[in-house]
Amino acid sequence: MLQIGNLQLAQPTVLAPMAGLTDRVLRQLMDEIGGCGAMVSEMIAAEGLRRRNRRTMEMIAGFSTRSPQFIQLFGAKPEALAEAAAIVSAETGYAGIDVNMGCPVPKVVRSGAGSGLLQDVPRLAQVVGAVRRSTPLPLTVKVRLGFNQVNVTETTRVIEQEGADAVAVHFRLRSDGYKGSARWELAAALKESLRIPLLGNGDIMTLDFALEKLRLVDGVLIGRGALANPFLFREIAGRETAERDWGGYVRRLADLIAEHYPERKRLGKLKAFTRFLVLSRPGTRSWKRRIFLSQDFREARGFLEETFPCA
Ligand SMILES: Cc1cc2nc3c(=O)[nH]c(=O)nc-3n(C[C@H](O)[C@H](O)[C@H](O)COP(=O)(O)O)c2cc1C
Repeated sequence: MLQIGNLQLAQPTVLAPMAGLTDRVLRQLMDEIGGCGAMVSEMIAAEGLRRRNRRTMEMIAGFSTRSPQFIQLFGAKPEALAEAAAIVSAETGYAGIDVNMGCPVPKVVRSGAGSGLLQDVPRLAQVVGAVRRSTPLPLTVKVRLGFNQVNVTETTRVIEQEGADAVAVHFRLRSDGYKGSARWELAAALKESLRIPLLGNGDIMTLDFALEKLRLVDGVLIGRGALANPFLFREIAGRETAERDWGGYVRRLADLIAEHYPERKRLGKLKAFTRFLVLSRPGTRSWKRRIFLSQDFREARGFLEETFPCA
């Protein structure tokens, strides 16, 4: 059992935040499949939330799920993040708050947010402290190993001192982007140095890899692997490969996209979610191509349903 602040997770597994992907559709679907300990939203701009920007408010609209949902905030200013966290705590049903200190996108970094905070430890400390004082909700912070050089022992120590309830580490540097392999060899020593739970992240694509990493850390965050195999959380919870109802998955995915997005956005969303499926299904590049060549949502959906018949 993994405990984050006063929140007990039924499983030590978390759906990692992914912009454009861990929206309402994916979180609802993952929750229906089951087995996931908690889920994190797409990254949400603290400034947008604080100003109650209409699009931001739409992105954070609540819905109930069995596994708790965290909202991920990003920003550079401690007061903006604190104010956004206070709004989330007072006005939404989110179970916890995660602060983004890992995003490598140049525009985000230049503004001092995301992994930019890893280069400025005093500001990082101010951010965590300010958010901590503004919310009673469980608070986690997601970092990378460092910006250009590893400083994760220092950043996570400060994050712990400033009152976060857990820390999630993507075992790559900002300068690595998504290249190479995540450096899980650093996990054991880092765990030793912390009192709060350590959630590890990076390259978990299979059940065996997840179980191996769960021996090193308190919990794992899974991003792309959950899109490649949406049954992965259930498999980890049951510790064995589950029956994978691909037909049911693609139909439900398409239904939820149609329910929550206007026509002009549906095809793009379907492509975004399904492009990762090939990673767990070798030899399926040809259908990936067909989806990408589809002219509209109906065509792509029809093709997916043909490829993945109902069980
Ligand atoms: C398309 C995409 C969007 C992402 N968006 C976010 C984000 O909004 N916030 C964040 O902290 N990490 C984001 N990440 C990073 C993931 O949370 C995770 O750290 C990374 O993908 C490594 O984990 P994985 O190998 O399990 O995918 C994103 C990753 C991808 C592939």
